[in-house]
Amino acid sequence: MAVIRKATLSDLEVLCTLEKRCFEKKRFSEDHMTWLLENPDATSYVYYNEAGIVASIILMRLGRIGKVVSLGVAPGHRRRGIATQLMALGEREMKTHGAASMRLEVGTTNDAAIMLYESLGYEIVREMPRYYSWGEDALAMKKPM
Ligand SMILES: CC(C)(COP(=O)(O)OP(=O)(O)OC[C@H]1O[C@@H](n2cnc3c(N)ncnc32)[C@H](O)[C@@H]1OP(=O)(O)O)[C@@H](O)C(=O)NCCC(=O)NCCS
Repeated sequence: MAVIRKATLSDLEVLCTLEKRCFEKKRFSEDHMTWLLENPDATSYVYYNEAGIVASIILMRLGRIGKVVSLGVAPGHRRRGIATQLMALGEREMKTHGAASMRLEVGTTNDAAIMLYESLGYEIVREMPRYYSWGEDALAMKKPM
């Protein structure tokens, strides 16, 4: 049976491993992940099933904005609605804390994620040339709550 629960610092190692499985380039360092897990304005959820922790989402409250900082589902567990569930939970959490809109950035070549976010009602608000450290452009996306 699958369970979603809030992540804690005790999930640090498994979250860093999951980042490596999900992202070829964009990975958070252990220090940055620790900072996020300890940050009172951030909320993280892990999704686990019989295979262990296979997905996570990290969100931050920035005033009236709820920001999706990271979302990853391990290969082999994709296209089963896991990201959709995590996003719905994250949006609810941000709304509870007063967010009027959701924001995120996604690489312009990340078709799977762009399609996911569009399917959830996110719209592209602008392009951000060379947003990532390796030179890839990003799209800023937004969804009113
Ligand atoms: C993007 C990602 C989070 C999607 O996770 P997921 O659990 O597979 O997504 P879902 O099953 O909830 O997909 C919901 C919808 O999004 C769209 N979608 C998701 N992956 C897609 C793909 N590879 N191709 C086309 N559409 C896709 C579809 O509309 C899908 O609905 P459908 O399966 O009924 O057609 C996952 O592919 C991933 O972890 N990728 C690597 C990390 C990453 O890029 N994270 C986002 C960073 S901004």
